[in-house]
Amino acid sequence: MRFVDLIEKKKEGRPLSAEEIRYWIRGYVSGEIPDYQVSALLMAIFFKGMNPDETLELTMCMMHSGDVMDLSAIHGLKADKHSTGGVGDKTSLVLGPMVAACGVPMAKMSGRGLGFTGGTLDKLESIEGFRVNLERKDFVDQVNRIGIAIVGQSGNLVPADKKLYALRDVTGTVNSIPLIASSIMSKKLAAGSDVIALDVKYGSGAFMKTPEDAVKLAQTMIQIGTGMGRKVRAVISSMEAPLGKAIGNALEVEEAVRTLQGRGPEDLMDLCMAAGSLLLQEAGGAASAAEAERRLSEALKSGRALNKLADMVASQGGNRYQILHPEMLPKARCQTAIISDRCGYVHDEKAMELGSLAMRIGAGRAKKEDDIWNEVGIVLKKKPGDYVQKGETLAVVHHREMLTEEWKDSCRQAFIIAEEEPEVRPLIYEII
Ligand code: URA
Repeated sequence: MRFVDLIEKKKEGRPLSAEEIRYWIRGYVSGEIPDYQVSALLMAIFFKGMNPDETLELTMCMMHSGDVMDLSAIHGLKADKHSTGGVGDKTSLVLGPMVAACGVPMAKMSGRGLGFTGGTLDKLESIEGFRVNLERKDFVDQVNRIGIAIVGQSGNLVPADKKLYALRDVTGTVNSIPLIASSIMSKKLAAGSDVIALDVKYGSGAFMKTPEDAVKLAQTMIQIGTGMGRKVRAVISSMEAPLGKAIGNALEVEEAVRTLQGRGPEDLMDLCMAAGSLLLQEAGGAASAAEAERRLSEALKSGRALNKLADMVASQGGNRYQILHPEMLPKARCQTAIISDRCGYVHDEKAMELGSLAMRIGAGRAKKEDDIWNEVGIVLKKKPGDYVQKGETLAVVHHREMLTEEWKDSCRQAFIIAEEEPEVRPLIYEII
C-alpha cells in the first residue's frame, strides 16, 4: 500500500477501507508515515468528510493504538462525562460528586487547559496537595471506596490521538466532525467507562459554531459509542458566554463548591442537573428525568454531594478544609474592577476573548510547558440579559501583576452592551 494513494482517494471524496485506515494509524504511530503526508490526508478529510463506517474504524484504530483501561474491578456501571471544552467550565467538579453521591461510580480521566479553554486537572491542582496521578490500582480502589476519582491520563492511552491532535492543531484541521468525534471517543472508550454523558458545546467559545453542527457532532459520537457497546447520551449547550461567573482555577473551584452548597450560578446548576440526570437514568436506575433530578437535588440539599468532593480531595492527597471552607483557597494579591463606560443590557460576553484574557494574566497556558498561577482570573458581575449602569462593575479581575490599559479595554469590550433588551437563549439547546 502507498500512503499517497489514500490521499488521492480521499481528495476525490471516496471512502477509505478499514484496511487503509489501519495502515494509516499503525504507520503514523510507528513513525513510518511522515507528518507531511498525514497533514495532507487530514486536510482532505476536513473537506471531504468521512462516512460512519470510516469514522468508527478510525476511532477503533486510535483506541487500540495504546493501552485500554480495564475497569471491571469497579463494581457496577461506571460513568464518565466529557465536555467538548469551554471557558469557565467547572461542570466535572460539581456533576461528578452529585452523581457519585447518588450511588453511580464516577471513574473520570480529565485533561489540562490549553489556549483559551480551562482544564479540570489544573483546577483541581489549585487545591493544596491534590494529586492527579494515581496508580491504576489506587484509582480503582478509590472509586470502589468513595465512588469517585478524577485523574490525569495514565500510561500510554491513545498515543495516536496525541500525535494526530498536535498535528491538527498546527494544520488548521481541528474542527472537523469525524476528526473531533474519533479523537474524543477513542479516549473515552479507552478509559473504560460503560456510560458516557457528553456535553457538546456550540457558540463563539466552542469548536462548533452553530447548534446544528453541535447536534451533528453529538450524533456522530453517540453512533460510535453505541457501536462499541456503550451507553452514550448528550446535552447540547451554549458556549457563547462563559459558564457560571468564575474563570480561573482556584476561582472556579470556589464556584463549584458554592454550587454544591446550593448557592451557585443558575446556568452551571442547570447543566449539571441535565447531564447528571442522563447518567442517573442510564447507570443509576432512575426511571425518569424527574426521578433523577429529585435524587440529585436531595444529594445537594443533604450536603452529601459536597462531602463527596471533600472525600475525593482528601483521598487524592488534597486539603479537604479548602473545600469545606473555600475562603482558604489561594487568593490573588490584587483585585481590579472593570467598569462599564455605558448603560444598557448585556447582550453577549465573548467567551473566547475572556478565556484568552484570563490566560494572558496567568490563568492558563499558551504552550504546554507554561506555568499557571492558580489564584488569578476573572469574576463576571453581569451575565447576558442583566442591565448595567454606566460606572457599574462588569467584572473583577484577580491578578498578580499590573494590568495594562490595553488589557482592561479588551476586557471591557468583551461585554457587548446595547440599549434594547436582548432575547437570552436558554443554555441547553437539546438533549439527545
Ligand atoms: N477535544 C478532543 O479531545 N479532541 C478534539 O479533536 C477536539 C476537542
